[in-house]
Amino acid sequence: MSRWVKVANVSEFEALPADSPSLAVDAEGYDVVVFRLEDGWGALDDTCSHEFSKLSDGEVWDGRVYCEKHGSSFDCRSGAVRGLPATDDVTSYDVDQRGEELWIALPDWA
Ligand code: FES
Repeated sequence: MSRWVKVANVSEFEALPADSPSLAVDAEGYDVVVFRLEDGWGALDDTCSHEFSKLSDGEVWDGRVYCEKHGSSFDCRSGAVRGLPATDDVTSYDVDQRGEELWIALPDWA
């Protein structure tokens, strides 16, 4: 089970640079990063699983976010590790666009 939480408006992404289409948001106290992708949206915990840098400070290319600290990369939708040195995936969240609003699904444990 999960519950849906509104985290952002689509218009907040309009001023972001093309190489960093991500937005750090607060989801009921959880740090989450939302990505604007070519074909939709992604959302992950905003903490790299390697040494806990903010993924929202990284660059996004081809559906991956690259951590600015040591270069690990993660799939922006699934949170799966795509590049070392990180070896653990990052928690991902489903995203639903409802008109101008973006909502994410927080699990029950959140
Ligand atoms: S803290 Fe992200 S790769 Fe090291």
